[in-house]
Amino acid sequence: ACSGDKKETSAPAAEGDGGYTKDKPLVIKFSHVTSIDSVKGKAADAFAKLVDEKTEGKVKVEVYPSSQLYGDNDELDALVSGNVHMIAPSVTKMVKIDPRWQYVDMPYLFENEEHVRKFFTSDVAKTILESNQLAANDIKGLVFWENGFKHFSNNKHPLEKVEDFKGLKFRAQAGKVLEAQFKALNAGSATIAFGETYAALQQGTVDGQENTFNNFDTQKYQEVQKYFSVSEHGRLDYAIFVNKSFWEKIPADLLTAVEESLDEATKLAWDLAADENAKSFENIKNSGIEVLELTTEQKEAIKAKLEPVYEEFGEVITEELINGIRDLK
Ligand code: LMR
Repeated sequence: ACSGDKKETSAPAAEGDGGYTKDKPLVIKFSHVTSIDSVKGKAADAFAKLVDEKTEGKVKVEVYPSSQLYGDNDELDALVSGNVHMIAPSVTKMVKIDPRWQYVDMPYLFENEEHVRKFFTSDVAKTILESNQLAANDIKGLVFWENGFKHFSNNKHPLEKVEDFKGLKFRAQAGKVLEAQFKALNAGSATIAFGETYAALQQGTVDGQENTFNNFDTQKYQEVQKYFSVSEHGRLDYAIFVNKSFWEKIPADLLTAVEESLDEATKLAWDLAADENAKSFENIKNSGIEVLELTTEQKEAIKAKLEPVYEEFGEVITEELINGIRDLK
């Protein structure tokens, strides 16, 4: 049977509030991997609070931060099976379902935050957020949340020139694009779950990593890294994904309130991203590790060295997406 048949036979969402009350609320389980004081942690908690207010407690969003319920290796499976109803992964982690999500890792694809936000609300973003690949896994993509540009850090020596990356091993989030990025720099990489990265850096399983100022700071990587290079070579952003069957059964009035809450939390997430990353950058600079702000020429040299990533993955990510993003500049 096609999915159209399934829709007609499954129970429709109830009208009104579906009989949920403050004492017997509808529970939305929201799992994520960062800390409560991270950009994502703060936005997730704000969303939960808004939902509580707008539904008068009839919907309860239970937020599980810091990989405490599910980590990188199982949160997507938990969403598909309905054990959790909402996740907000760094979009590259959706590679398991659709390799195009690695658009976010394409080196120096986004110019600045304005470019990123234009993308979030663009038709080209819709093509991936509303894709059949997600629906086929009973997932619905709702909105994008922002984090920031990624930068490199490591324990061996300052990373200034492309030659400095040679022979080092970096932690990567997921997927072949990041692997190819490090390979293009003559470095190695290992995919390691976010929740296990601090230990991997501490124990020397890897020499370095790449992340936003805010993730670096809220994970306290300054305790286990010596050199930080402000390179802005890639992005780390999120999208909100929900279990589609679960979502479509939320009673009409409650769903309206939940959607309004998500819109407000999304605006907050966008505002928070720049501020929190700026604060974290100050924290990193004050932490005693060596911070190097790469010059335009140094960034251009890294960009040129990463050009093979476009040759290798342009087709997988699709020209439509890459050029669509470039055209938004
Ligand atoms: C990472 O694994 O580095 C990030 O995706 C963590 C996060 O959710 O921001």
